[in-house]
Amino acid sequence: MIIETHAHYDDEVFDADREIVLSSMCDNGIMYLVNVGASLESTAASIKLAQQYSYIYAAAGVHPSHTDQLNEDNFEWLCEQCKKEKVVAVGEIGLDYHWETPEKDVQKRWFGRQLDLARQIKKPVIIHSRDAAKDTYDIITEKNAAQIGGVIHCYSYSVSMALDYVKMGFYIGIGGVVTFKNSKKVREVVKAVPIENIVLETDSPYLAPEPHRGKRNTSLNLVHIAKEIAAIKMISYDDVVCITTKNARTLYGIYQ
Ligand code: NI
Repeated sequence: MIIETHAHYDDEVFDADREIVLSSMCDNGIMYLVNVGASLESTAASIKLAQQYSYIYAAAGVHPSHTDQLNEDNFEWLCEQCKKEKVVAVGEIGLDYHWETPEKDVQKRWFGRQLDLARQIKKPVIIHSRDAAKDTYDIITEKNAAQIGGVIHCYSYSVSMALDYVKMGFYIGIGGVVTFKNSKKVREVVKAVPIENIVLETDSPYLAPEPHRGKRNTSLNLVHIAKEIAAIKMISYDDVVCITTKNARTLYGIYQ
């Protein structure tokens, strides 16, 4: 049985058949899934899904690209959401310099605030970082986020930086990109990072793995990601599933 560590089933592309997709999970080997907030609205929607389905947990947080919606008042609301029982992490939070807005200073400020929040409530963080390797690393070390723990989701940087994060105790989130033909860098990361530090994720509905690249993604595609990791690391598929499931439990504190 697999744990999906990162998905967005509140996305409108699931509006027509969300119930059908979600109720197919357990019969297809997906034991638990974490629905990750990316804005205030999707945080609320994630928590609602977690209340509806026993096998869904939520993460509460604001993605760097949406940090311009934050202010002191709604940040207080976010803090309250993060404390809720089925909220297992603060995320996704971080830096995304791929887009020009919000300004870097705005992104950095709210990244820092959400790291402080996670420390306060003793929950791990889900880090999103795109085209911002150095600033992300600097803030994580400045804030001593190794004490907080968490996952670097959809990891896309160098092998040496991945190993630095592993040394700090972070998990490395591996998703559909590892199955892409042009994913040499991610494959090198998978080779170098111990399987004990890897968790499986799809980022559904985005980033569907081969052979479904370009289509709507669901957690049922985690098997393709696990198979690819098994091939790269030359270990069995069952070992990949068993060890990454254990890792996901430890990461999010899900022991049911
Ligand atoms: Ni995501």
